[in-house]
Amino acid sequence: MKLTISFTALFIACSATLSAFAAPLDKRDVWSPPVLYPHEGTVWKLGARHNVTWDASNPPKLISNGAAIYLRRTNGMLQPALAEGFDLRTGRQEITVPSSFEPGDDYRVVLFGDSGNWSPEFTIERA
Ligand SMILES: *[C@@H]1O[C@H](CO)[C@@H](O)[C@H](O)[C@H]1NC(C)=O
Repeated sequence: MKLTISFTALFIACSATLSAFAAPLDKRDVWSPPVLYPHEGTVWKLGARHNVTWDASNPPKLISNGAAIYLRRTNGMLQPALAEGFDLRTGRQEITVPSSFEPGDDYRVVLFGDSGNWSPEFTIERA
């Protein structure tokens, strides 16, 4: 009996979690593809060029807002954008790490599709 209740509770918890994730996908005009690179453990150098990549499978037919890539740190988004107006369907965009930025281990890439998607934290160090 106790076991049955636990499974029921687990099922309810899982369903709630799944529907929270599924909700944006059901609305076919919202797409925030997950960032694949940079990921945890990535180290970039200031001034270096890299391809930011993301999972571009299952794009919606219509992507309504402009694409953009920003870096952010714990305290907020950093200007300028590293890239803007590229095609989200390609799954990658070459960027240059601005030489003027400070080294740090709390960087994230933010990919804007129809809504923002953050990479895990990674490190940028001096060249
Ligand atoms: C980014 O990817 C393209 C296509 O694979 C490649 O030609 C280019 O050299 C890559 N850029 C970097 C900085 O790795």
